[in-house]
Amino acid sequence: MSNNNLIEVIKKRRSIRLFQNKEISNQTINEIIDCARLAPTARNLQPWKFVVIKKNETLRKISEATDYGKFLKDAAVCILVFCEDTKYYLEDGCAATENILLASYALGIGSCWIAGDKKPYVSVISEIIGVPEGWKLVSIVALGYPAENPSPPKKTVEQVIKWEHW
Ligand SMILES: Cc1cc2nc3c(=O)[nH]c(=O)nc-3n(C[C@H](O)[C@H](O)[C@H](O)COP(=O)(O)O)c2cc1C
Repeated sequence: MSNNNLIEVIKKRRSIRLFQNKEISNQTINEIIDCARLAPTARNLQPWKFVVIKKNETLRKISEATDYGKFLKDAAVCILVFCEDTKYYLEDGCAATENILLASYALGIGSCWIAGDKKPYVSVISEIIGVPEGWKLVSIVALGYPAENPSPPKKTVEQVIKWEHW
């Protein structure tokens, strides 16, 4: 198996906050969740559930609850990553979230990670979705066919690498 495509996906993915008015098929969403569920997870607990939102009204309610996620109302889909309150829920949920971003990009879909964990609006969003006690909202992912091509500044390898010692 060649990993060149994956390397390209990792290098080219950027956060997308402007979307085309175009539906994402349920088959495509299933494929993205299939990639999310295969993320590494401490003790293989797989403590996650992925809530898929397509209804405009719910997208609007969730977007209004956030601070820096107002653009979610114009996304085609939102995936809410919930994890049971286990020791490594945050790491597990973040690994699954990254898989969602990369799989989406590979399928031609733009995405943006919107903060969940630690945000005061977690309880508001959990209430909107009807989430039972004991589940943590790790992240909110906006998805849609991209209508922008941003290029935020990135540190170079030389700026971040240390060999053998600090
Ligand atoms: C934990 C986390 C929380 C984030 N929360 C938000 C957010 O609330 N709103 C937003 O627009 N972007 C959010 N982002 C996306 C970052 O702003 C983005 O990844 C960063 O600017 C780098 O750009 P890139 O994803 O295009 O490489 C979040 C990213 C992470 C990892």
